[in-house]
Amino acid sequence: MSELALFGGKPAVTYVGTDKTDGSDMFKWPIVTDEDREAVLDVLNKGSMSGTDVTKEFEKEFCEWVGAKYALGTNNGTAALHAAMFGVGLGRGDELICPSITYWASCTSAYSLGATVVFADVDPDTLCLDPKKLEEKITDKTKAIMVVHYCAHPADMDPIMEIAKKHNLKVIEDVSHAQGGKYKGRMLGTIGDVGAASLMSGKSLAIGEAGILWTDDIEVYERATAFGSYERFSAAVPETEYLKPLIGIPFGGYKHRMHQMSAAMGRVQLKHYDERCAEINRALKYFEEKTKDLPGLKLVHVDESDGSTMAGWYVPVMLYDEKAFDGLSLSRFCEAMCAEGVMIKPGINRPLHTHPLFQTIDVFHDGKPTRVAFSDEDIREMDKNLPESDVTNARSFMVPWFKHYRPEIIDQYADAFRKVVANYKELLDGDKGNVGVLGGWHRYNHTKKS
Ligand SMILES: Cc1ncc(COP(=O)(O)O)c(C=O)c1O
Repeated sequence: MSELALFGGKPAVTYVGTDKTDGSDMFKWPIVTDEDREAVLDVLNKGSMSGTDVTKEFEKEFCEWVGAKYALGTNNGTAALHAAMFGVGLGRGDELICPSITYWASCTSAYSLGATVVFADVDPDTLCLDPKKLEEKITDKTKAIMVVHYCAHPADMDPIMEIAKKHNLKVIEDVSHAQGGKYKGRMLGTIGDVGAASLMSGKSLAIGEAGILWTDDIEVYERATAFGSYERFSAAVPETEYLKPLIGIPFGGYKHRMHQMSAAMGRVQLKHYDERCAEINRALKYFEEKTKDLPGLKLVHVDESDGSTMAGWYVPVMLYDEKAFDGLSLSRFCEAMCAEGVMIKPGINRPLHTHPLFQTIDVFHDGKPTRVAFSDEDIREMDKNLPESDVTNARSFMVPWFKHYRPEIIDQYADAFRKVVANYKELLDGDKGNVGVLGGWHRYNHTKKS
C-alpha cells in the first residue's frame, strides 16, 4: 500500500490545533493575554475609543522601537499608505511604481490622488521588487516607488535607493508584511522617505483593524496628518511653512483616526513583539533546516549574515520547482500535502497587473480606464513584460506559519514534505495540472489545520 495519505496511508500530521489565542496553539495569532484585555477594557470603560491619548503613547513607543522621529496611527494600513502617498506629494498625473505581486492596497489609493500605477516585476527568489527591472519603468511622470517587503522578506533597498536618488524619486516602504524586519541592520520602513504598515489582525504585528506610518521627514508627517487626521492637524502648529496658514483644514477629507482599543492593544503587543518574533524565527529556521535538502523546494528566507532579518515571518513562502518532480503540478503536490494534514494551496497574491481594476475599469467615469485616464494612453503597454509576476503563483505557496518553537510538532510538518517528495512519482498519474486560478486578489487565508 502507498505511504501517501492521498492513497490511504497514514497522514504525517497528527497535531490538532487548540484554537486558543493564549499562546498554547501552534498557529493562532495574535497571542492575547489578560494584559491585552485589561488595556482594551480600560479604553472601553473610559469611553475614550475616539480619543487620541492612547494612540499618541503607542506612536511614541513605536517611534522608539522602529527608530523614527514621527509616527501617525491610522484606522488601517490602506489609510496609512494613502496618507503616506499624499505625504510624499503624489498627485495628479504622477506615476507610482509598484511591484505586481502584492495586495492591492499597496497602490490602489494612488487613483484617488489623481495618480496612476505602473507595475514592475519581482525578483524570482525574494518575490520583492526587482531593482534590475525598476529603472526601465521610470518616465518623466514617475514620482514615487512603492517598495513592498513581501511576505516578510526585505526588498533589496540599496540599489532601489540608488535608483530613486538618481531620478529624484520618493520611496514609500509598505511594511505590512514585515514589521520589525531589517535590511542590512536597518529597520524596514526607515530607509525610504516613509514607512507604512497594516496592523490588522492577520498581520505579524496584529492589533485589530489599524495601520501606522512613520518617517523622519516633518513635511511628510505633517502632510499625512493634514490628509486624514484633521483633529490632530488642528491641534498642532505645523513646522512646514506652507501648511501654517492652513491649520485644521481637512486636506483629504478623510478620517483616518486609529481606534483607541487597537492603540491600547498595540502598546501591549509591541512590548512582547520582538520576543515573540524571535520564537517564530527559531521555529521557521528549524523547519528550514529540516526541509532544506529536499529537491525542488526552497523556503524564501533571508541571509542573516549581513544583518537582514525576517522578523515575524508573516506568511512564510516556499518556492516550488516542478522540474524537480518530472513536471508534477503544484496543485497536485498541494493535494497530496493536504491529505497529509498540511493545508496548503498554490499561489499567494495574484499579479495586480492582470487585475481589471488596473486594466479596464473606469472608476471615475472618465470614459476610459482610470489607469489610462490618469496618465498616458500607452501606459498599459508598460505592464506587459512582467514574466516573474506572471508565473509566481504556479511556483509558490505558503507554508504553515509556526508561532512557536516546538520541534516535535514542526517535525510532523517537515515529515509530510519529505514523504510527499519521496513518493511524488505516484502522483504523476492523475495529475490534471494546475487547476483554476491560482492565488487570490485578497489577503490569503493562512494555513491552518482544518
Ligand atoms: C502588502 C499590504 N499592504 C497593505 C495592506 C492593507 O492593509 P489593511 O488591510 O490594514 O488596510 C495589506 C493587507 O491587509 C497588505 O498585505
